[in-house]
Amino acid sequence: MRDFQLLKRLQDDFHDLDAPIPCDIRQPTPPQVESQMILRMLVRAKYGEMKIPWKLSWLNDVIHEVSEYDMGLTGIRDSWCYVTVRHGPVVTRTDSQWHFDGASFRTELIPERNYVWVNHTPPQFKTGKLLIFDSFDPLKHDLFRYAEERLVHNPIQEAEAKQWMMMTPFCFHRRNPQVPEGSRTFIRISFPDIEARDINNTHNPLLPTPAYGRDPVKSFRNRLSRYSVRDH
Ligand SMILES: [Fe+2]
Repeated sequence: MRDFQLLKRLQDDFHDLDAPIPCDIRQPTPPQVESQMILRMLVRAKYGEMKIPWKLSWLNDVIHEVSEYDMGLTGIRDSWCYVTVRHGPVVTRTDSQWHFDGASFRTELIPERNYVWVNHTPPQFKTGKLLIFDSFDPLKHDLFRYAEERLVHNPIQEAEAKQWMMMTPFCFHRRNPQVPEGSRTFIRISFPDIEARDINNTHNPLLPTPAYGRDPVKSFRNRLSRYSVRDH
């Protein structure tokens, strides 16, 4: 059974894509280690206190400032807070593919806010109108690839390095595929309305979290197929 309500929400939410919003937040000083890779580490549970482990102490003041900034911007005081750091040689590949961050389909929730900072080679993004056909099935078809194909002629824009920016889940972006060899620092501080239950999250020793046993990339993302007009 197709979920047409879900499709309708998607058609509304992704109709006008967002650009990253520059934010007036202090510059971080990258850590004095060769590399640090942290993926979506929980630092504050909803209604909880910030718990920043020693590994992230270099980012402590910035995390608090970003959180205050987000509260000022949105008026929301009770989000989850997750931190991602990729500091060191660029190794991952998937970030160079066009995507939405946290493109949760449960869009009746408050959209998450992602605050991003990079020291060089800033993200690329595209704006414009994304028309989602009625025959598109969000539970079957790959939305990222669909958007990439629909927006293929929209110009590639570039955000700014060394400038905090806020990305909504409706900001279509990627890491610049021409990222030079060598070290790069990427920081993302996210405020979603729901817990990110994902087996791939880096564990925070100060916050006992259950082993989620859930891998949304494998169980959902990798199973999506390419939408083709000819199929419909
Ligand atoms: Fe992203």
